[in-house]
Amino acid sequence: MISICNKSVLETVSEKDIEALKPQAQAAAQTLEKGDGAGNDFLGWLHLPSEITAAELNDINATAKHLREQCDYVVVIGIGGSYLGAKAVIEALSDNFAAYKHNEGAKVVFAGNNIGEDYLSDLMRLLDGKRFGIVVISKSGTTTEPAIAFRLLKNMLEKQVGKAEASKLIVAITDAKRGALRSLATQEGYKTYVIADNVGGRFSVLTPVGLLPVAIAGFDINALVAGAVEMEKAPADMMTTYAATRNALYQAGKKIEILVNYNPNLHFLAEWWKQLYGESEGKDGKGIFPASVDFTTDLHSMGQWIQDGERTIFETVITVEKQRHEVVIPTDDADLDGLNYIAGKRVDEVNKMAELGTRLAHVDGGVPCMLITLPALTEKYLGQLIYFFEKACGMSGYMLGVNPFNQPGVEAYKRNMFALLNKPGYEAQSAELAKRL
Ligand code: PA5
Repeated sequence: MISICNKSVLETVSEKDIEALKPQAQAAAQTLEKGDGAGNDFLGWLHLPSEITAAELNDINATAKHLREQCDYVVVIGIGGSYLGAKAVIEALSDNFAAYKHNEGAKVVFAGNNIGEDYLSDLMRLLDGKRFGIVVISKSGTTTEPAIAFRLLKNMLEKQVGKAEASKLIVAITDAKRGALRSLATQEGYKTYVIADNVGGRFSVLTPVGLLPVAIAGFDINALVAGAVEMEKAPADMMTTYAATRNALYQAGKKIEILVNYNPNLHFLAEWWKQLYGESEGKDGKGIFPASVDFTTDLHSMGQWIQDGERTIFETVITVEKQRHEVVIPTDDADLDGLNYIAGKRVDEVNKMAELGTRLAHVDGGVPCMLITLPALTEKYLGQLIYFFEKACGMSGYMLGVNPFNQPGVEAYKRNMFALLNKPGYEAQSAELAKRL
């Protein structure tokens, strides 16, 4: 089981401060269970792991197998909660150089998470003449970024293999009834999966939104879900500790939480976590700012700021006990690089000492530090970690006094963009912006 340790925060907040907040965290967990808090129409994720049926998992695995067999590339189109969970899990489990290896099944590539013209052009040139399929994911079915990518790639696929064949290579994941993507999928006869009304985007990784891309990438979604079920069924102590500690730190002036990893596979796990906590807590003028760094890489960029800059930060370090592979540092007779003092040691031993040394230095520098330990980077432990962060997020949001399940702030840029693009229905805003500019 994954675990948490908050001992290294006790120079900043006392055990008493944290214990004093635990009843609030437990009450927040109760509120989630009873479903009587703010945003209670978005609690579908709470028992999702244990409610997914074997038949649902089999169906997702069968669709993944079909696409893996028929395609060299599967493009997963989506943004925000409709992409980050899948990306996080796939990156965490993948060989770091999988993109350069051939003949190992369909490669999952992502699109629709930006509006970069060169990105789309590069992707289309990569796919030109190749066997490819598309998984298009949008809960609302109307989001601009994925809609643009889908229009381009659908058009390209239909030209390459014909409309009828293309429809067998496209899967849509969207709302049961509403939205342009649902209408389009129905009309074109695509295989579809539903994102339930009561599961928000950033809590959707354990639905087909995350599970289908992860299965296409060749990973074990049954084990991922089983790990999440273990955390769902376990007592909420870990979540209580995390939620109470981060809120105690916030109250003590630590306004920024940096999620730290020492494993390049975890970069996107942090991106997923930032969306989860940022969109859930950052509202009503409140909320811990979620940031992230990849160590030791970023010790050579952000390390200075973290050690010596403004003391408004705390860290949550994710450590992975056991690596997938062993690499031992060789002895060199000449020792011109002076590294013989670590010859015979595993690279991970050095990494772990870097981690320990950094944690001690940061605590000495006034940066409180929590530690989350994963026994290994496997589907099961990632499932536990995902559910842990989701539930702790709901609890922490309620403790902060916000609705953790809405995101009213993300509409502001969309309104301006639509007005600037003269989208029908935005005439008044277009005129207003024209005056300002
Ligand atoms: O968490 C959220 O709700 C958002 O990040 C959405 O996932 C994101 O905006 C994409 O929305 P949609 O799936 O409707 O295209």
